[in-house]
Amino acid sequence: MNHLDFRLTGEVRHRLSVGFPVRARSVDELVRHRADFKRMADRLDSVGQDLAQLPVHQVRSWIDIIEVEDQGGHVIHSGKLLSVPVPINLVESVSPEDLRGLLDPDSRRLDIPAMKFSPNISRLQPSATIAVSTLAKRLRAEGRDIIDLSAGEPDFGTPEWISEGGIEGIRSGATRYTPVSGIPELRRAIAGYLESVGGKPVDWEGVVVGAGAKQALFNAAFTLFGPGDEVLIGAPYWTSYPQMVVLARAEPVPVAGDSDRNFLLTRADLDAAYTERTRGLILCSPSNPTGAVYTLEELREIAEWAKEKDVVLIADEIYREIYFGDDRSCAPSILELPDGSLGPYVLIDGASKCFAMTGWRIGFSYSEVELAKKLGALQSHVTSNAATPSQMAALNAYSDLERATEAKQGMAATFRGRRDRVVELLNELLPQLSFVEPMGAFYFFIRVDALFRDGVSDSTALCSWLLEESGVAMVPGVAFGDDRFVRVSFATSDELMESALRRLADVVGSPASTA
Ligand SMILES: Cc1ncc(COP(=O)(O)O)c(C=O)c1O
Repeated sequence: MNHLDFRLTGEVRHRLSVGFPVRARSVDELVRHRADFKRMADRLDSVGQDLAQLPVHQVRSWIDIIEVEDQGGHVIHSGKLLSVPVPINLVESVSPEDLRGLLDPDSRRLDIPAMKFSPNISRLQPSATIAVSTLAKRLRAEGRDIIDLSAGEPDFGTPEWISEGGIEGIRSGATRYTPVSGIPELRRAIAGYLESVGGKPVDWEGVVVGAGAKQALFNAAFTLFGPGDEVLIGAPYWTSYPQMVVLARAEPVPVAGDSDRNFLLTRADLDAAYTERTRGLILCSPSNPTGAVYTLEELREIAEWAKEKDVVLIADEIYREIYFGDDRSCAPSILELPDGSLGPYVLIDGASKCFAMTGWRIGFSYSEVELAKKLGALQSHVTSNAATPSQMAALNAYSDLERATEAKQGMAATFRGRRDRVVELLNELLPQLSFVEPMGAFYFFIRVDALFRDGVSDSTALCSWLLEESGVAMVPGVAFGDDRFVRVSFATSDELMESALRRLADVVGSPASTA
């Protein structure tokens, strides 16, 4: 059914524009809520008193959430500043012009913008990770000493011999378009690397290089799924997966395994979530945000389930080489599975995490060639090739496998040392909190609902509070589909990490005082 999304906006103290996205089923429905709108506007005046202190341009609000945007459209506050008594999810179409005249003409605060957005983005949510990092930046700009544990990227520089490839590329004129799916040399080098992972031949034409693993994932979701399809997503999940599925106008279905098993999925979990409409399964191992890792046997079980159900398996292995187990040097890959275990799949990987190359924007997918061609065709109309000098840098990274392994294992060993230290510190300083002990990647997923209290009753509010009180920035678990947790990145030095955890312990207090 159609519906209209619009925003009520108003001015607070001539400086702040405030807006509410609202959905209405009919004009009558909206009129009935006119009193609510007026009440909202009145309350905004008082909120505005506080907000006037902030360099904000806009306030947006959903039922319980209020977000503050700066002029660049970046969310700089997200939390329960205000509860808006407006029903959402009401549906039907009315024109904003019709609505204009319906609101109190005397109220100069209210104005309904005529801008209508496409249904393509009607369910898109802004990244919940941005709110806290923007608040952190603001506090830092105000001179506060902030320790940022929200980073999703290694704190190392790109190895120089890799960067040299990019620099040399620029010097030698590698500054033009390349084939959309990447220069053949790079695709061949990546295929060679994948052969070393799985010990099986890999067709280089199945490799599509894009602007980061993110683009590779989006290409896959957009190419494979559409209206009416359901896509299972291992939860807690990386924040962009559901949004990508939503952009394809398919239905994301988060599936969490048992928390005692670090949320890892089993066939039984998948069976319970499966319907006739299930078309895909997105799996991340090692996981962002939990760091949990599937064993090869567990991967086989899931891959075989997907094959039996004719569900496309999208395996995000971007953290595969940041692995802390003693049994092997990297986390298991679906490429290591026996051929008979795998049905249709797309493997996602890239240079961002394992080579500390987040800013170069190089990621790739590997799939059967027919699908790879479709992924390339989509990319040809969206971004074309990944940046050419970046491809040249990646060519160095993927061509010299020995040197690459040495560099990656060096970084992984540093992460492992930090992981061990953080486990010790958490047990010593914050014994009242439980967490998933990461076996890969560089995140701790820490359960914090024991710290909730009046006014601080969800992960976003808790992160904002802890940031204000301790100067430590973390990412609310709601961004990953579990509001009881926060994500802490240990892509930071030992000293900063220890100091951050000590500050948190000071604010949160001992278990006895929080009981
Ligand atoms: C699980 C996961 N997949 C994909 C990506 C995207 O990586 P890239 O920076 O290569 O686009 C990220 C980045 O944070 C991630 O955590």
